[in-house]
Amino acid sequence: MQNAISGFSKLSKTQKIDWLLETYFNNDESSRKLVTQYFNSDEKLQKLHDEFIENTITNFYLPLGVAPNFLINETLYTIPMAIEESSVVAAASKAAKYWLERGGFKAEVISMVKIGQVHFTYAGKKEDLLNFFTTVKSQLISDASPITKNMERRGGGILDIELRDKTEELDHYYQLHATFETLDAMGANFINSCLEQFAETLKLEAEKSLEGQLDIIMSILSNYVPDCLVRAEVRCKIEDLKDKDIPNPGAFAEKFKQAVSIAEVEPHRAVTHNKGIMNGIDAVVLATGNDFRAVEAGVHAYASKDGKYTSLTHCSIDNGEFCFWLEIPLALGTVGGLTSLHPLVKFALQMLGKPSAKDLMKIVAVAGLAQNFAALKSLTTTGIQQGHMKMHLMNILNQFEATESEKTQLVEHFKINTVTHSAVVEAISKMRK
Ligand code: MEV
Repeated sequence: MQNAISGFSKLSKTQKIDWLLETYFNNDESSRKLVTQYFNSDEKLQKLHDEFIENTITNFYLPLGVAPNFLINETLYTIPMAIEESSVVAAASKAAKYWLERGGFKAEVISMVKIGQVHFTYAGKKEDLLNFFTTVKSQLISDASPITKNMERRGGGILDIELRDKTEELDHYYQLHATFETLDAMGANFINSCLEQFAETLKLEAEKSLEGQLDIIMSILSNYVPDCLVRAEVRCKIEDLKDKDIPNPGAFAEKFKQAVSIAEVEPHRAVTHNKGIMNGIDAVVLATGNDFRAVEAGVHAYASKDGKYTSLTHCSIDNGEFCFWLEIPLALGTVGGLTSLHPLVKFALQMLGKPSAKDLMKIVAVAGLAQNFAALKSLTTTGIQQGHMKMHLMNILNQFEATESEKTQLVEHFKINTVTHSAVVEAISKMRK
């Protein structure tokens, strides 16, 4: 077994690569070349990226694509998407174009409340704690004022702090459940700093005036933000759904609605259905420098808020009108964090017209809805593989290091032949004979 290494983080980048080569690659210089060829020649830019995380050895590319023609609340957007899955951007672009011709997307932010909690235990009398909290609450807020004053000046800050009794679920467990308005910031640092200050005040004041033992367990924001909600929708008359893949719009609408209903009642399908939504959401969240893990965790928790995992989108057909919508929690920022550091994030945000956090919530929700529309449209009409394999063709060709001329010929060939991995391999081999 490989020996553990100590002090790895103190090594220089070159020393780290040396250690990796020696330990795992038999000092193979071609592996060094592989890793170092991803360095940016602009040293300042490279340093910026190196310092985003600890122990950086190189850059890991993801394609940044764009999906144009998104009409959202009467404004046209070109949406940036960072994603590796071959069909996602194409599907988004198709859905954008389809709905552009049918009035576009509508989106609204329903609420913007973020949440953080101080988790603590208290072994004394419940009543004493309740009284203590009533007296200490204003001090919790005032002690945090050095942290909150700038946010307050801009119109945000702490909205409220509640004491929550959780002792029925866990012995002696209570929490300060705090709500925040963080405006255009995602707010993680702001919220966590406030919470740590609340915890300090709580502990100090409890030592002075509470009999029972109060112990702080931890202070952290919650990524479950059911009151930071956005809704996106599309609607049109059933007959207007018609296009080349939808010769019978009435039958299509019914089948589409049925597909959504299946995801509403069947968790196995709901997970895949929502995964498709997240294809669109994560790609925009990542391209705009936001935390896609936080978004994923919060969105999936929301999908099970009523005790059973279900679809995030819904569909109705009323009075000859088709309506398809999505409602999700999204805690996003357009200032601070990576948004002001990563040059491509700045580029992406500028492309979106320097959106506020609210605008970005709408754009991201629309990207999710569009993605789900595209997936369900394919699944209920032509099937998904036709489009997927066409996109996958290029990946297979690249695996075989096809030349530009081979690519052109094979793309032409597969316009009329079914793409399967073996069919592509066979066609390349035949061509190369
Ligand atoms: C693939 O990444 C996403 C889909 O599976 C989504 C869906 O099934 O709705 C196509």
